[in-house]
This record gives sequence, structure tokens and C-alpha cells, in this order.
Amino acid sequence: MGIAEVALHTMPGAFAAHSPASNLPFIADVRGRRRKRSTNSLPSNSRALQGQVRFPVSRAVECQCQRIDDLARVTDGNNGAWVKDAIDKASQDLGGDVRVLPGKGVGGNGSLNGSATAKSPPQRWKASSVEDEAWELLRESMVYYCGSPVGTIAANDPNDANPMNYDQVFIRDFIPSGVAFLLKGEYEIVRNFILHTLQLQSWEKTMDCHSPGQGLMPASFKVRTIPLDGDEDATEEVLDPDFGEAAIGRVAPVDSGLWWIILLRAYGKCSGDLSVQERIDVQTGIKMILKLCLADGFDMFPTLLVTDGSCMIDRRMGIHGHPLEIQALFYSALLSAREMLTPEDGSADLIRALNNRLVALSFHIREYYWVDMQKLNEIYRYKTEEYSYDAVNKFNIYPDQISPWLVEWIPPKGGYFIGNLQPAHMDFRFFSLGNLWSIVSSLATTHQSHAILDLIESKWSDLVAEMPLKICYPALENQEWKIITGSDPKNTPWSYHNGGSWPTLLWQLTVASIKMNRPEIAAKAVEVAERRLSVDKWPEYYDTKRARFIGKQSRLYQTWSIAGYLVAKQLLDKPDAARILWNDEDAEILNALSTNRKRGKKVLKKTFII
Ligand code: GLC
Repeated sequence: MGIAEVALHTMPGAFAAHSPASNLPFIADVRGRRRKRSTNSLPSNSRALQGQVRFPVSRAVECQCQRIDDLARVTDGNNGAWVKDAIDKASQDLGGDVRVLPGKGVGGNGSLNGSATAKSPPQRWKASSVEDEAWELLRESMVYYCGSPVGTIAANDPNDANPMNYDQVFIRDFIPSGVAFLLKGEYEIVRNFILHTLQLQSWEKTMDCHSPGQGLMPASFKVRTIPLDGDEDATEEVLDPDFGEAAIGRVAPVDSGLWWIILLRAYGKCSGDLSVQERIDVQTGIKMILKLCLADGFDMFPTLLVTDGSCMIDRRMGIHGHPLEIQALFYSALLSAREMLTPEDGSADLIRALNNRLVALSFHIREYYWVDMQKLNEIYRYKTEEYSYDAVNKFNIYPDQISPWLVEWIPPKGGYFIGNLQPAHMDFRFFSLGNLWSIVSSLATTHQSHAILDLIESKWSDLVAEMPLKICYPALENQEWKIITGSDPKNTPWSYHNGGSWPTLLWQLTVASIKMNRPEIAAKAVEVAERRLSVDKWPEYYDTKRARFIGKQSRLYQTWSIAGYLVAKQLLDKPDAARILWNDEDAEILNALSTNRKRGKKVLKKTFII
């Protein structure tokens, strides 16, 4: 049986096994589509049948969406009171030593500055007051569905008249929120998020008549209140997902499913409640994601082949192909899924495929994505046009590709994984998330993990500077920017995805440095961030080479900036808890890797014509 067959075999009725369990109501899409499922297709062993499943729901629920709007507070009306409270509170904590920078009220539009600008520098925010504020903001970003919390809104700026899709719950953005809640012992929101997004996975989705693969998780969703069919006075709430069919550039959220698996594992590890991951519908959800990722294609490499903008960088930035971020998340999700899959007849082939992929992926990335001083020198001296099985320069990389910036930049101690590898192309940019998650997932060896942290330390003024952390380094400029980004005015050099600095990345930096027993690196970065995040109103990203300015089009009160900071603080306080997120090096993979290295040449088999 092939992998695809196995997956189908283990997924009776594919969609059907995704039964909304317990009290999760079945809903219709606001655009009138219904999920491909009927009561007939439910497997007999599904827990859903024992629960309170209704097809479709015809229940008028009191509209909870308004909560989001109610909570859009902070500046106007009563919000001034909230700002003042925060300042008073901070002031008390500091014995009166609190200053708000001119034009930078705590979560305000500056209207309260008068009351607080009297104090002179140095400005000092007691960390705990920043944390308190962050917790308050995080709670206010919570989104409710049928009365239960299901996620956090991407940005919650009351002064933003045009929030675009930042008023949605993004899967990737919720991960630090979820982790913050887990570490606080508040499990309900994470459980709900996991189960509700799982329901969205089997949505019938199309873009211009084309349906992406089943198993795709949405990029984001929104809770909408719509009139109930046939009842003028009643409304119902629906979850309206976006799989990329409405997103700018119509990008596919490849990372969503991978993050979902990672969060599911963290939920089980942190709460001790394994019943969620053991549910039939959740097991099926995991398998559907795996099936989609492990599907055969034309590719020669074990890395996942994706289009541009399929992850945190969700618009054109020249990362199509095999971007590191996706590979690190893929590796982490494979390991995490393997840990959670319950052994059952029929899943042996899937596990085998997964194991094979883990070995191949780890070999490929460790071997071919790695650069340090020595490796660069090797590439610099590469011969090209080598046609043979034992070519050294397997991907036919022309040494001229080594950009002048890199020759100067590569430190004598330290190294990193490049951003992407394709035939005749190495993208030498340093991408933070991919490198950090390679440490967290043990995709990087211990030596490589330390070397990545060494590089971050030695390139502190480039990567951290005045606000952690650069999303990538360096920025694309001039002609390169024009061609690669398509002259994207949001991604100008040192802005947004093009070398902008993203505070949310603090949490991944913290997990990685704690895993390598070097928490002081994260602590130092948190200290830098703490000086500005609150006074700057928790921006989404910062601009300029040294991250001096709040980003040109950066949202304020960006939830994952808030949550990223909180997770970093919580983990620095209780470093052991970081274990819920990292994957240990797997002995079997190591073994297989060393055998792989010894194996070299292709064994030619005789062919017979019968
Ligand atoms: C931007 C980011 C993306 C994030 C979204 C919501 O599009 O690039 O990574 O998920 O905003 O915050």
C-alpha cells in the first residue's frame, strides 16, 4: 500500500472522521458553503456520534462577537481610565518613578501624557508593570465563539479604522498566545482553538474553481454573526476561515498545520491532558496534515517545496522553493506527530514514510544548508558543472553567488542555515525563525545549534540592535528589491519582511537559548525589548537597519508581539517549561544519518527486458 492509500485507509471517510465532537456545533459558512459531510458518512466509532452533534446547527446563539468590539478600548471614552489606571499602577510600583514619553501614552493616543510627563529621565519601567499590561492586553484580544474563548485577534488597535484582516485569529499568530496561556495554566482557550481549527481543516475550499489539498489548515478565521436562516430575529455565530483565497497575494498557509501540530503537543505536555490528542478526529487531523506534506511529487529533495509567502513571510520575498522556516517547522511537526500518533493497524506505512522523511530531511539540511567560515571557503573554491554521482558541488552553485556582504559578515566563530537551496541557487540571507526553530526542533546538530547562537551573539548589532529580532538579514535593496519583491512598497529595505525587526520572535529566541542552556542571550534581548515595547504600544514590527523606528505600516497592539514577550518572560522565569516546545535529538535519526554518510555511491542495478 502506498502512503496515500495508507492515509486514506486510516481515515475512514476522511472528512467524516473529523466529527465535531462534544459540544462543537456544526456550522455553515457565511458564504453559504457547507462542509462536505453528511450524517451518513460518519464512522460508527466516532466519538461525535456520542456527543451533541447537530447538522446543521439551528440554534440562535447570543452574539458574542461584539466582545471583540467592546474590547477595542484603550484610548477613547472609558479607555482613558484604563490608561490612567495602568500609569497609576506602574507609578505605585515604582514609587512614583514612571514617565510616559511625549506622544506615547501607555496604550493611548497621547491624551494623558500631561499627567505623567513631569518626571525626568532615565525612564524606567518596572518589568512587572509591563508584564501586567501585556497580560491585560492579551486577555482583551481574546475572541469568543458561542461563549467560549477560541483564539486571539491579530491586532487590537482601537485607533485603526482599517484593520484589514488583522481583526482575525491567525493560526501562526495564536501560537505564542496559546503558549502564554498554557504556561499560565489556562488550558481552555488552547483546547478550543485546537478543536475549532480542526473543524475548519475539512472545509470545502476553492479558489477560482481549484481546491487546495485536503488537510490544509486556514491562515486565519473570523467569528461572524449572521442572521439565522428563516428567523429574522435570531442570529448565529459562524467561523469563517481564510485558506489564502482572500489573503493578499492568495498565499497558501503551509505553516498553519505544522504549527497546529506543535501546539497540540505542547498542550498535551503542559496540561497533562492527552485526551485531546487521542481523539479520533484529532488523530485524523494529524494524519491529514502529514498526508498532505508527505505526498509524492516531482521533487528531488526531501525538503517541502512551497510557493513564496507560505509562512510568517506571507508575501513575495523570494522565498519560494524550500525555505528554511517551513523545513524547520516541518521537521518539528513530524517529530511531534510521531510522538502523538496512536499505534493502530494501517498506520505503519505512514509512520515508515514519516521516519524516512525525518532522516532525509535532517541529512539534507545539516549537510547542504549549513554555512560557516570554512564552508563558505569551500563554496568559494567550488568546481562547477560536475556531472557525476560523487560531485562535491551537487547543486551546481556558482561561487560568484557568494555576495560581498557575506564575505564581510560571516564571523570566524559561528554559522547558520541559509534561507533556501535550489539548483544553482543558495539564498544566503539569514532568516531568524528558521534558524531558531532548527535549534528548537533539533534539526540542527548540537554543534550547529551553538554556532547559530554564537552568530546571533557576534552579530548582535545587526540582528538585535534596538529591538529584537530581525526577521532576516540583510535586506534586499535596489534592483534586487524591485525584481524579487515586485517593487513591494511595504517590503522596502529594512522594513516589514525585508529586514524589519519583529518583537514576536523573542519567544522563539528564548526557547532556543534555553534549550542550549544559554538563557542569558534571551534575557539580554528581552531587556532590550522591554525598554520600548510598552511605550511604543506593542508594534508589529520595527524599521531601519538598527530597528530604531516603529514600522512604517506596523500595526499597534499586535497580539503576537505582546504574547511573544510574555512567553519569553515566563520561560526565563521557569526555563524547564520550555520543554513543551522543543524536540530532543532522536537517536534513531542520528544512527541512520551516520549510515547514510557512509553510504556513498549509487549502486547500479541491472535492468532486464522481459
Ligand atoms: C502579516 C504577517 C503574518 C501575520 C499576519 C497577522 O501578514 O506577515 O506573518 O500572521 O500579519 O499578524
